[in-house]
Amino acid sequence: MFNIILFGPPGSGKGTQSEKLIARYGLKHLSTGDILRSEIAAKSPLGMAAKSIMDKGQLVPDEVVIEMINSALENNPQAKGFLFDGFPRTTAQAEALDKLLSQKETEIAMVLALKVGRDELVSRLVNRGKTSGRSDDTDESVIKSRIDEYERKTAVVADYYNQFGKVVLVPGEGTIDTIFDSLSTEIDSKMVA
Ligand code: AP5
Ligand code: MG
Repeated sequence: MFNIILFGPPGSGKGTQSEKLIARYGLKHLSTGDILRSEIAAKSPLGMAAKSIMDKGQLVPDEVVIEMINSALENNPQAKGFLFDGFPRTTAQAEALDKLLSQKETEIAMVLALKVGRDELVSRLVNRGKTSGRSDDTDESVIKSRIDEYERKTAVVADYYNQFGKVVLVPGEGTIDTIFDSLSTEIDSKMVA
């Protein structure tokens, strides 16, 4: 198995690049944000509880997303690898993920960290909010709360993986294709290593 974390702040292009990466590498895409939005669409109790938190731009509790990832891993035994997008977002989630993967005798191969400046993040998300229908994109103050939450709780996840030498920084500004080429080059060098 070859497992990758695509890491970065809200609006850094995780979802956009994930689509292209899974097509090229045949990995299973696991986005906790997407799973939560499908729970909201289904009006499940989990979705209803998560919605009010997501609408404030805050993180849902660790145990909720860890259980979602646990189920997704269990439900995809045939996967040749996973691409994690928007997870893990706290050190506790990272530790839990390592444990779940080690039970399956696999691990995170690399953490690709997209670097994008704050002004560019805000402008991308304000722009997406005009059409996305995502309630957390429509209010600039919620967008800023999401970025603040990232800086407070999520940025340290890179430090966690850095102690194992797994983090690769990739510039996340420029054209989507240029960024995809940079990500692919990093993956290719690690896959053959
Ligand atoms: P989540 O769905 O993960 O959202 P996010 O992290 O806020 O990030 P986005 O999906 O907004 O951005 P992205 O990096 O995927 O960028 P994208 O490719 O879309 O989380 C939502 C909420 O769910 C959280 O706030 C939290 O409440 C909850 N949650 C989820 N996971 C959780 C977890 N693990 N723990 C706790 N809570 C959790 O691109 C953004 C825009 O930019 C698009 O319009 C795109 O077209 C455009 N764009 C992309 N690349 C470029 C480029 N190179 N140049 C110009 N524009 C570009
Ligand atoms: Mg996304």
